[in-house]
Amino acid sequence: MLTGKRIILGITGSIAAYKAAEIVRRLRSLNAEVWVVMTRGGTEFITPLTLQTLSGHTVYTETFALQEGSKITHINLIKDADLFLIAPATANIIGKFAAGIGDDLLTTMALAARCPVIIAPAMDSDMYDNPILQNNIAQLKETGCRFIETEEGELASGLVGKGRLANIEVIISTVIDLLVVKKDMAGEVVLVTAGPTREYLDPVRFISNRSSGKMGYAIAASAKERGAEVILISGPTTLQKPAKSEGIELINVVTASEMREEALKNLKRATIVIMAAAVSDYRPVDISPGKIKKSGGNVSLDLTETPDILTEIGMDKGNRIVVGFAAETENLESNAMLKLKRKNLDIIVANDVLDPDAGFEVDTNVVTIIDKNNEVTPLPRMSKKEVSYRILDKIAKIANLKRTYSRA
Ligand code: CTP
Repeated sequence: MLTGKRIILGITGSIAAYKAAEIVRRLRSLNAEVWVVMTRGGTEFITPLTLQTLSGHTVYTETFALQEGSKITHINLIKDADLFLIAPATANIIGKFAAGIGDDLLTTMALAARCPVIIAPAMDSDMYDNPILQNNIAQLKETGCRFIETEEGELASGLVGKGRLANIEVIISTVIDLLVVKKDMAGEVVLVTAGPTREYLDPVRFISNRSSGKMGYAIAASAKERGAEVILISGPTTLQKPAKSEGIELINVVTASEMREEALKNLKRATIVIMAAAVSDYRPVDISPGKIKKSGGNVSLDLTETPDILTEIGMDKGNRIVVGFAAETENLESNAMLKLKRKNLDIIVANDVLDPDAGFEVDTNVVTIIDKNNEVTPLPRMSKKEVSYRILDKIAKIANLKRTYSRA
């Protein structure tokens, strides 16, 4: 399963370090290549020799050990890694990493890592509950590190509580989840809308909004990666068009009414609809054939509502999974829930568009995913790519339930 994957395992000074031997063994049995990096504390709990034998590679502990070709170890190793897993991770290492301190090989590598980082903490429950540690964890999560929750149980200190290293199976399945692209969307036809629409008043002016299309394009790319056939209906954006070789069918539209027409035309083929476009809610009643001239004084525009595409799709959804977005500036959850019900959706992805890290134009988003069973999942700030994965995970979960049910 992990053939060709290069994993660096960081081991720090926790009593749970002995469990790292089993982590190495499990990863290697899945055909991953594993290199071990240890802090000095880590070597007090398990010997580098054990880990060297199990991993089949030299174990690194010193920052400035030189390899052949005089390349500095940490740069060399981390450059080609697919994953940096720190297990067990002490409060000390988490604190240093959050503060940007690199004073040994492991912390230096963590700072230099461009690959995903997974951290599995292990410590005493009082340390784990300390708000300073929790702040550090929250801060690292914000930068994209993934944490594996500790388990409750008896601790080395004699206390009983949270802080035990997560079960090894949980650690291994988190690694697999991250490194192996799922093909769970194979056989699905995903219709995605993206970007803004433009509603013209005259040949040179239009009403639109700040949508960049990034969220919808990320969803289309991720659905493709996961094996789906993808139809992307896009309003005007400045984004790089998906290359033909990516296999995404791109349909360009300008107005809400064109988007509606294409969406309804392609709906029959779709098994999943994700309406990420920021459709203009209003359009001018009349479009002037010539440029509207200045006439002095104020001007008022007569606007009429555009068709609500998602509502129409919701009314004719059949067995499809239908996902909408809710751009809100207040009462995020309750407004989104109302939209979910009103538009007959399975899932709604709500974002507060006043949050500078969320919504329009930026590469990140902060969303709350709500499903028709009222399960509310607030997500921290993350890249739009990552958000797209979480949305697809949710769809996969719901689709499975639904399809199993409808077959029965
Ligand atoms: N939507 C649509 N057609 C429209 C307007 C919106 O299909 N004419 C879709 C959007 O693509 C989005 C969802 O409806 O998935 C919610 O859009 P949003 O603008 O948040 O809500 P509205 O329904 O327009 O309600 P309001 O603007 O009053 O919040």
